[in-house]
Order: sequence, then structure tokens, then C-alpha cells
Amino acid sequence: MKEKIVVVTGATSGLGETLAKMYAKGGAIVVAQGRNEKKLSALKKWSDDYGYGLMNPLCLDLLEKNAAERFYQYVINKWNTIDIWINNAGFGYVGAYTACSLELIQEMSQVNIDFVNQASYLVANDMIRKHSGTIVNIASTGAYHPGPFTAQYYATKAYVASFTEALYYECKPHGVHVMSVCPGAMDTPFSRKAGRRDNAFAMSTQKVARAIIHGVEKKKSIVVPGLFYRMFIRIPRKIAAPLIEKQQKKLAFHIDN
Ligand SMILES: NC(=O)c1ccc[n+]([C@@H]2O[C@H](COP(=O)([O-])OP(=O)(O)OC[C@H]3O[C@@H](n4cnc5c(N)ncnc54)[C@H](OP(=O)(O)O)[C@@H]3O)[C@@H](O)[C@H]2O)c1
Repeated sequence: MKEKIVVVTGATSGLGETLAKMYAKGGAIVVAQGRNEKKLSALKKWSDDYGYGLMNPLCLDLLEKNAAERFYQYVINKWNTIDIWINNAGFGYVGAYTACSLELIQEMSQVNIDFVNQASYLVANDMIRKHSGTIVNIASTGAYHPGPFTAQYYATKAYVASFTEALYYECKPHGVHVMSVCPGAMDTPFSRKAGRRDNAFAMSTQKVARAIIHGVEKKKSIVVPGLFYRMFIRIPRKIAAPLIEKQQKKLAFHIDN
């Protein structure tokens, strides 16, 4: 990964921050996108202090108009190439679908689906022209089942997983690797931001990031970190959906039980 240009979206927290740091430690030139300037500066300071790679913070809200085009152009204008582009930024909502604001539902589609779709389009075309590169899209184990009381979030991740797996086959003959990652619960601020207490089976972001880096090296199509979660995704939808419903009701802040 030395001197590779690695782009990580949502690098100010959780999995994105861990990936940005791991790639920087490996000597990559990391473009770390987020929308929290303080956290981006802290990331840059961390890399400067330890002398790891080159951390390039980019402050951008992915909800802004033409965010994918502007982001992609910024990277191409500055480095002329992209070796690894990781669409990691995303957020969820736990609660009744009908109780969630329509604005939040639309924003979830914009960040979790539209940005991933548009960035993948621009980056894949560039990589195909150059016959090299890797796109990693972070989905979720939620992609495999319907998610009562997290309906919109699970559906956005089902989109990401299906779209990314299809793109894997389309891009492979062009020398471009596309990989979907489906983590189960991770120990990050994600759950609390989404409106639920943390999950007892949460994995560390280090474990998930290591599985991603390994998957990139081995050119895998899908990575599902953790044996427990690899077994969980095989549970039939009809059995899993009521289990997920029960779990969300138990952990959510918003649902009247
Ligand atoms: N944690 C889990 O249990 C879990 C499980 C499966 C899959 N995932 C997926 O893994 C990925 C990383 O999640 P995480 O657990 O690391 O969550 P996290 O700690 O909340 O980090 C999410 C990152 O995405 C950024 N982001 C969200 N909306 C954005 C926007 N509009 N513009 C720019 N950046 C935005 C966040 O920035 P702000 O801090 O500024 O919002 C943050 O940097 C997500 O795609 C998530 O869906 C998470």
C-alpha cells in the first residue's frame, strides 16, 4: 500500500477513521473525507505526529449538491489517479419507519445509496480507463434480511450489497476490483447516533478493517467479517426478520414497546 492513493469517506469516526489510520500507517497517501473540521484536523495531526504516510483531510458534506463529482474531481486534479476508493460513510435510523421524518429518510438514501452510486460510477470509469484500481463499498449484514424498525437503513444496505456484487463481475475483466463489505455490529458511535443502545456482539473496527485490507489484497468480491455474522446471514429471512424486530425493539431509544 506504500504511496498508493487511498480515499476513505466518513473518516472522522468509527470504521472510516480506523481504515484511514491503518492505510496511513502502511505508507499510503490517504484522502480522508469527513464533515467535522476538528476531527479532520485531529486526524492530520495524528499522522504528522507519528510520521505516518500523508493524511489529506477533505471537509465535505456528502449531502451537498454534486458532492460525488466535486470529490472525485478534487482527487483526480490533485493526484491524477486513485488506487483504492472506500465508500464507508453512512448512517442509520432505528425506530418505526412512519415515525421517522421524510427528510431523514431521504438523506439516508442520498448518503447511503446516491453518493455510493455516483462515486462508484465516476471512479470505476476512471479505473477502467487505467485498467487498475479497487472500489470498496461498505454495506452491512443488514443487506441480507428485512429490518423491521430499521427498514430504510437495511434497504439502503441491500442496495449497496447487490449493486456492488454486480459491479464486481462487470469490472473484473477490465482489471478493476470491486468489493462489498458486510459487517455486523461494530463498536462505533453508529448505533447511538441511529437511536439504539450498543449491541453485545459488536466487533472492533480494527478486526473489520484488517478483514477489509486482506480482502483488497486477495481481490475478494464480498467480505463478511466474523464467523458469528457469516452464520447469521445464512438464517432464512422469515426466521431472521422477527428476531431483528425483537432486537431493535429491545435496544431502540424511540420505540414504544
Ligand atoms: N457500526 C455498525 O454497527 C455498522 C454495522 C454494519 C455496517 N456499518 C456501516 O459501516 C460504515 C461506517 O459506520 P461506523 O460504524 O464507523 O459509523 P460512524 O462511527 O457513525 O461513522 C460514520 C461516518 O460517516 C460520516 N457521515 C455520515 N453522514 C455523512 C454526510 N452526510 N457527509 C459526510 N460524512 C457523513 C460520519 O461523519 P459525522 O460524524 O460527521 O456524521 C462518520 O465519519 C457505515 O456505512 C455504516 O452504515 C456499521
